Amino acid sequence: MSSEPVTTPTRVRPRERDAILQSLRAGVVPRIGHQHIQVGRYTEIRALLADIDRVADGGAGSRFVIGDYGSGKTFFLHLIRSIAMEKRLVTVHADLSPSRRLHATSGQARSLYAELMRNMATRAKPDGGAMASVVERFVSQVLTQARDSGQGPQAVMRQRLDSLSELTGGYDFADVVQRYWQGHDGGNEQLKNDAVRWLRGEFTSKTDARQALGVRTIVDDHSFYDHLKLLSRFVEMAGYDGLLVCLDEMVNLYKLSSTQARNANYEQILRIINDSMQGSASHLGFLFAGTPEFLTDTRRGLYSYQALQSRLTENTFARDGLVDHSGPVLRLANLTPEDFYVLLSNLRHVYSGGDQAAYLLPDDGLHAFMRHCADRVGDAYFRTPRNTIKAFLDLLAVLEQNPGQDWRVLLGGVAIAADSNPDLDPIDADTDGSDDELATFRL
Ligand SMILES: Nc1ncnc2c1ncn2[C@@H]1O[C@H](COP(=O)(O)OP(=O)(O)OP(=O)(O)O)[C@@H](O)[C@H]1O
Ligand SMILES: [Mg+2]
Repeated sequence: MSSEPVTTPTRVRPRERDAILQSLRAGVVPRIGHQHIQVGRYTEIRALLADIDRVADGGAGSRFVIGDYGSGKTFFLHLIRSIAMEKRLVTVHADLSPSRRLHATSGQARSLYAELMRNMATRAKPDGGAMASVVERFVSQVLTQARDSGQGPQAVMRQRLDSLSELTGGYDFADVVQRYWQGHDGGNEQLKNDAVRWLRGEFTSKTDARQALGVRTIVDDHSFYDHLKLLSRFVEMAGYDGLLVCLDEMVNLYKLSSTQARNANYEQILRIINDSMQGSASHLGFLFAGTPEFLTDTRRGLYSYQALQSRLTENTFARDGLVDHSGPVLRLANLTPEDFYVLLSNLRHVYSGGDQAAYLLPDDGLHAFMRHCADRVGDAYFRTPRNTIKAFLDLLAVLEQNPGQDWRVLLGGVAIAADSNPDLDPIDADTDGSDDELATFRL
């Protein structure tokens, strides 16, 4: 993807600067400040902006963000997430892992749900943990409506929650929100906390939930997706424009050794896609990120599931630089050397807090750094840039702390390791936690 000229932002707030640098030096994608370093991805962002608008208008949609190892999937997801928050959506995100999946029978789907809820974010709470404030906002909307209409808050609340009761699991969901309200009204913090814990999928026993809240069900493996649908309706009632669910590291499903467990997860994905196509979900968007094998491998990937293959087959004309972002699959191209150059200059800019006079390295230094990387690790330096970014920031840190040091001298000593994909290691049947699924199957 070619990089359009970037107008370098002039100021970088210290909080953003530190968050960006700390994350990148640790090899992880920053949670805030993406706009300061972002390069390329213009058409992809445009496509996703349209998706967000559709969700805000009451629609639904699913996208599969597919890119090679280290090509920028996680970065892209976080970028879209921050745009969605700006557009008044609530976002939740999580990485799949052996213990977190879309479908399971031993708690792994509930665990994924709880992780999503822990990471719930809004514009006012971009760092996560936003569930309590979302519920609080719903309550204050009810109070305002009650005041304006002269009705009692209890009656208004019941009316609004009524529409949830028609959805699977909606009755208890509505009950729990009512409990929150009772806690709010009666100054009972414990009741409020328990209600929030229930909504966050943190109850693991029905008995505990019944004692704490008087409801018979909890969020469990079985109700994973039904609860996301309920939540999307609820956040809309609370005054947000919808819910964006970001699921990263989808390759973990491909790695499940039990065909039955894999298929059950793929069936869940099919249900999500069908719902968004048939209009039976609203204010709800899904972003799934994974490597190409997760999508196209016909033995273990999504393509191994016939109904998904037919829905996710890409436009065969969109090749050789031509794109079609109207289908559900969005391919992320690797960054180019030109992108990488812009990225380095963005990093230099962020490092100096946006002060051009404080740049630690001239443009020549950026070019020399790229040549140095190309010599050491070849193409990987811009295609999978995680390590190169780290090395560059390490170089800047030394230059900053040792004024007067010549960058030319230091550059020769910068060590860079090529980034290698751990997913290409052999798949270990014992670590995917799928034996329980087989056990259930045999019963
Ligand atoms: N468009 C971009 N603009 C600026 N930096 C980017 C961009 N895309 C990726 N990066 C940076 O490149 C590095 C690799 O990106 P990221 O971690 O998102 O890749 P990934 O595809 O999720 O990798 P993996 O396959 O390991 O999950 C990160 O340091 C990230 O900050
Ligand atoms: Mg990633």
